[in-house]
Amino acid sequence: MIPTSTRIVTLQARPEPGGDPSPDMFAVEERPLPTPGDGQLVLRNIAMSVDPSMRGRLDLGEKQYTTNFQIDEPLDGSAVGQVLASNHPDIAVGDVVRHRAGWRDHAVIDGATAYRVDADAAPVGAWLGVLGQTGFTAWAGLKRVGELHDGDTVFISAAAGAVGSAAGRFARLLGAARVVGSAGGAAKVAQLVNELGYDDAMDYRAEDPRDGVPRLAPDGIDLYFDNVGGPHLVAALHNMSIGGRVALCGMISQYSSDGRGQDINHLIEAVLRRVTIRGFIVRDHEDMRPEFESTVAGWLRSGEVEALQTVTDGIDHAVEAFLGMLRGGNIGKALVRLDTDWEV
Ligand SMILES: NC(=O)c1ccc[n+]([C@@H]2O[C@H](COP(=O)([O-])OP(=O)(O)OC[C@H]3O[C@@H](n4cnc5c(N)ncnc54)[C@H](OP(=O)(O)O)[C@@H]3O)[C@@H](O)[C@H]2O)c1
Repeated sequence: MIPTSTRIVTLQARPEPGGDPSPDMFAVEERPLPTPGDGQLVLRNIAMSVDPSMRGRLDLGEKQYTTNFQIDEPLDGSAVGQVLASNHPDIAVGDVVRHRAGWRDHAVIDGATAYRVDADAAPVGAWLGVLGQTGFTAWAGLKRVGELHDGDTVFISAAAGAVGSAAGRFARLLGAARVVGSAGGAAKVAQLVNELGYDDAMDYRAEDPRDGVPRLAPDGIDLYFDNVGGPHLVAALHNMSIGGRVALCGMISQYSSDGRGQDINHLIEAVLRRVTIRGFIVRDHEDMRPEFESTVAGWLRSGEVEALQTVTDGIDHAVEAFLGMLRGGNIGKALVRLDTDWEV
């Protein structure tokens, strides 16, 4: 049966400048599904991703690489779905595809925007996490942007999150000598060291990064993979090795603030230490994806990396999963399973 309507999450109000989003700013509604045209697919979504970048899309500010969400319109984002009907010559009913029409149970999309994934090679959740955009962000950030060298000491913030947990594993497998991280809470810090392969870690809620970072990297940081900005970035700048590199991946500590921190006042440290600082957006590095997928799929098969994820079930709980991730409720990739018949 091809559905004619779907449950979908819409935006009802924007956060105040500098404020946090709250559940009342969203609604779950039943909306009609369009009839698929030439080249289009009808999908049953299996799982969707909730991402920090969606926080910025709730605001009205200028976007450099994405779009703002609109009031009374559906949210969107990465998801994996199974094809129920296809008007595209290369995609068959039953195929599993990754696409951008998340935040809804069913979707009609252009087949040209779908990316077929091998659900036998790895669980579908992995295609949104360690084998998907967050794993790929870790890969591009370490290898190309951060120019990881054998023997490097690597510091990673938001180290237990989707990008951070992948970056920790990958850094070691790509030749880092010492991998240290920061996360919120004693439980996450214990997990980083005992289960996720970090040599040492700090709890930024209990210890100021200006104290914790030099304790973790007494001989200096060669590569800082920055997921959070703010005080972590300042602390890292003060502890870089001569000629070190900073890969600016994201600044989640700043996403709900109406002003910007004073981090830039510390840039003299980059001068003194001859540090290269480079921001990046993962979509500019698509040429690396085949190498990334084949290497990381091999590491998943051999057990050298795991598909670490925090899964919430059901479209009715998707907003909760999103807001929880922003507060640190996740370890690994934060996912919402939309079809509970599937293992993710
Ligand atoms: N450049 C790109 O192309 C690209 C692509 C994907 C993601 N990103 C960025 O990468 C970063 C990580 O994304 P992700 O998808 O992997 O999310 P994630 O790390 O799985 O989830 C976000 C984490 O941020 C931490 N956090 C929240 N507020 C914080 C604060 N004030 N200070 C320090 N940590 C805080 C929380 O962990 P704790 O419990 O540790 O606080 C939370 O679990 C984000 O900045 C995101 O915007 C960039």
